[in-house]
Amino acid sequence: MLQNEYFRLYHWLRMMNEEDYSKNSAKLFWNVQFIYELVLAKMELDSSNVKYTINSNLRSFDIKHIQDVEFLRNRTAYFEEINGLPTLYNEITKKNVTRSINQYLTHWFYPYKGKFHPQMIRALLNIMRIKKGETVLDPFVGSGTLALEAQLMGINTIGIDISEVCSLISRVKTQSLKWLADIQKEYKSLTESIEKFAEKSEDKIIEEISKLVDTIKIQELRNFFLLAKLISHSDKSRRSKKSFKKSFETNIKRMIESLEMFDELQKTHNLILGNTDVSQADVRNLKLPASSIDGVVTSPPYSIALDYVENDKHALSALGYNLDTIRNEFIGLRGKGKSKIDLYNQDMKLAYQEIDRVLKENKYCTIIIGNAILNKREIKTVELTIDIFENLGYTLVKNVDKIIFGLYNIMQAEKILVFKKS
Ligand SMILES: C[S@@+](CC[C@H](N)C(=O)[O-])C[C@H]1O[C@@H](n2cnc3c(N)ncnc32)[C@H](O)[C@@H]1O
Repeated sequence: MLQNEYFRLYHWLRMMNEEDYSKNSAKLFWNVQFIYELVLAKMELDSSNVKYTINSNLRSFDIKHIQDVEFLRNRTAYFEEINGLPTLYNEITKKNVTRSINQYLTHWFYPYKGKFHPQMIRALLNIMRIKKGETVLDPFVGSGTLALEAQLMGINTIGIDISEVCSLISRVKTQSLKWLADIQKEYKSLTESIEKFAEKSEDKIIEEISKLVDTIKIQELRNFFLLAKLISHSDKSRRSKKSFKKSFETNIKRMIESLEMFDELQKTHNLILGNTDVSQADVRNLKLPASSIDGVVTSPPYSIALDYVENDKHALSALGYNLDTIRNEFIGLRGKGKSKIDLYNQDMKLAYQEIDRVLKENKYCTIIIGNAILNKREIKTVELTIDIFENLGYTLVKNVDKIIFGLYNIMQAEKILVFKKS
């Protein structure tokens, strides 16, 4: 009897503790596994003026003081719960048609190599204290990870990329939601027409699909189906067994499903989305007024690690580009050996001067970059970047080490460099 009483009391005390614990705590997502993510999670709390201590298991934080709990619940990237309640990002990441946890909503559109980790981008926008309605720039926008994350936070984005494939991907990811009803209608008539091609050869089917896509009058609709076609070109180049027609139909279906999830998310949470303005242009000559940007987050091409023309050659050729001609405009692809590195360094200096011109005073510029290894020699791109920004009058306020996957032989780690213009 006495023992029963003891257990009841013990369970009651535990329950109370757990309740208290969840009432004043921030719980990390289970997929937060790296030290750099823990560092960014701490920085997110710091930027919201939260006072906290980290629990010994390193999976949660005890909150001592918090000014605006709703703000943190809506903005945080690394916490799945604040004070026992799910965060908005917890809901966002559930809207996913893929098996990869980072590829929620439209992030998965097009298999682009070397994308940002969206969770990290959301955290950086918090750390840089970018407010709703402000404008951020990514002048190497690639597949538009920053554009979509900023949009979800009500922040406007200007995205620039020299590759038309990239500007197309970024636009379709962030601008198709408004056109969902029209896309669904177009899909019905398109699939009916495609059914008639069943007996034709693969090349003929590609030709007919291209003609159908080209005749779509509204640009936003045409872009959506054009991207589905480019994803199928990429599928074909990697998994030749899958028929182009099948891959095209499946891609459109899944893309529409993703937009439907996006629509539901926006309606359920009354999200006011940020605007995105993405164009094909050169970072060395930004068509933007001086001091017009509230923050920059970007990842420049790595001098020798990735050949962006080679990576997207199927899509670029399908858009009608001559690969040899456009190579010269891509930073990091001109020249050979030592001259390649020199040209890269010169181009990056011009790029950073342009970024400096358009960024407002007292704002942040975050560069994610690593040192590549060429012929067993380390190319000091990180040091060069710090040097250029310090000469432009910036202060390096954070320098975080980050692991990278997928480029093991050339690059194992990169840096998150947060500079302040002052
Ligand atoms: C590391 S990737 C950016 C990836 C991006 N952060 C993402 O999440 O997908 C670098 C990008 O720089 C672009 N680029 C190369 N030269 C450029 C130039 N002169 N002007 C603008 N963009 C350029 C490449 O096309 C490539 O998309």
